[in-house]
Amino acid sequence: MDKLEMAAIGREIIREAPHGFIKFKSNDLVVLPTVFSPEHNTPQISEIVEGMVKDYLSTHQECKVFEMGMGTGAAILTVAKHEKVKAYASDISPMAALNTKANALWWGVNCEVYEGSLFSSVPKGQFDVIFWNIPFFREDPGGVEDVRFRAGFDPGYKFLGQFLADCQNERLSAEGQILLAVDHDMCDLSAIQALIDQNGFQSEFKDGGYIKWGEMDVHLGYFFLRK
Ligand SMILES: C[S@@+](CC[C@H](N)C(=O)[O-])C[C@H]1O[C@@H](n2cnc3c(N)ncnc32)[C@H](O)[C@@H]1O
Repeated sequence: MDKLEMAAIGREIIREAPHGFIKFKSNDLVVLPTVFSPEHNTPQISEIVEGMVKDYLSTHQECKVFEMGMGTGAAILTVAKHEKVKAYASDISPMAALNTKANALWWGVNCEVYEGSLFSSVPKGQFDVIFWNIPFFREDPGGVEDVRFRAGFDPGYKFLGQFLADCQNERLSAEGQILLAVDHDMCDLSAIQALIDQNGFQSEFKDGGYIKWGEMDVHLGYFFLRK
């Protein structure tokens, strides 16, 4: 199957995504309509970020953690429960911002939540851990204009390129680290690596194993970036 065919299937999975209540690592979580349901790679991402935070806190007193595109907030709110973490997140989808605020209230955790593209609504400041479960598809299969499809589609990786530039120029602290969650087949890994290199980051790639997304096999991967 080529990437455009996979993109068309991905579009339908997002269009029909369920909403309601789910369990996220033994916590009840609200998933509002049109918001990406965190049942696939998100639990693994939250564990990896918890490890990054633990490493950072072994040599620092506090860790500022930012999630780009937090959706329901499942990952950032899990990390926000930790003592010494200050949590921040922003999403282009207004429904995602509302969803994360609702789950934060429900879980009784603190997280500064913003709505807007990339860092456009986020007050000036730097973060020690920044992570993004990126929209996988660089292709545009058509019919992905509604904001809900930003969960899976970033035609030309335009947003990803700007995100990396913003992190390098302004948002990542000197000893900070970025995690990008990707997939081997739906993502264009060489285009992502090229953007990472163009923006002057040192990077390491780790395999994340296989999971299912709808009918599709997802072969997870992670880029770890430093200045
Ligand atoms: C794959 S979903 C991940 C959602 C959530 N982090 C999770 O793991 O369950 C990608 C998220 O990025 C958001 N997003 C896409 N483009 C964005 C942009 N330019 N600025 C902010 N958020 C964006 C989408 O709305 C979506 O919530």
